[in-house]
Amino acid sequence: MSDAPSAPDAEPRGHLSIRTVAMPADTNHYGDIFGGWLMAQMDLAGGTRARQIAQCRVATVAVNGFTFHKPVSVGDELSCYTELVRSGRTSLSIQVQAWVRRHRDEAIEKVTEGIFVFVALDESGRPHPWHPDTRPA
Ligand SMILES: CC(C)(COP(=O)(O)OP(=O)(O)OC[C@H]1O[C@@H](n2cnc3c(N)ncnc32)[C@H](O)[C@@H]1OP(=O)(O)O)[C@@H](O)C(=O)NCCC(=O)NCCS
Repeated sequence: MSDAPSAPDAEPRGHLSIRTVAMPADTNHYGDIFGGWLMAQMDLAGGTRARQIAQCRVATVAVNGFTFHKPVSVGDELSCYTELVRSGRTSLSIQVQAWVRRHRDEAIEKVTEGIFVFVALDESGRPHPWHPDTRPA
């Protein structure tokens, strides 16, 4: 049994936060796109969204339910979609889905997803309440 988040596969969920193209430099020694590259793109997408929402610096503290559904190939157009799924006192959980448009194809498909947990930080790098209901005036 998987603890991966289950989302309908018909279309992407959330805001488009990053779009890029998988390049030969992003491959592993088998010639497939390196999973770490994909995770980095998703972390960037989630972090960008978290920073926009919290309106301060954020750090990734955890990644939950990360699943690689399908491989990514050189030339695929990668789009990362983000959605706030949980608001904590200092933390934000952002669901990130990565979808690809295959080289020479119009159809898109979901390739990876996960819940990225970010912590809002103050200028000294300490956890900082971000929620409008709890943020100090
Ligand atoms: C982010 C960091 C400052 C948080 O420090 P901390 O001592 O764990 O802080 P706290 O215990 O007060 O937790 C802060 C929040 O994170 C949450 N949190 C901490 N660890 C977590 C985990 N493993 N999973 C989910 N949430 C977690 C807490 O529940 C809390 O959320 P809340 O305020 O909404 O309830 C610290 O863990 C850190 O610096 N980690 C390294 C971050 C990093 O380098 N990331 C990679 C590059 S961005």
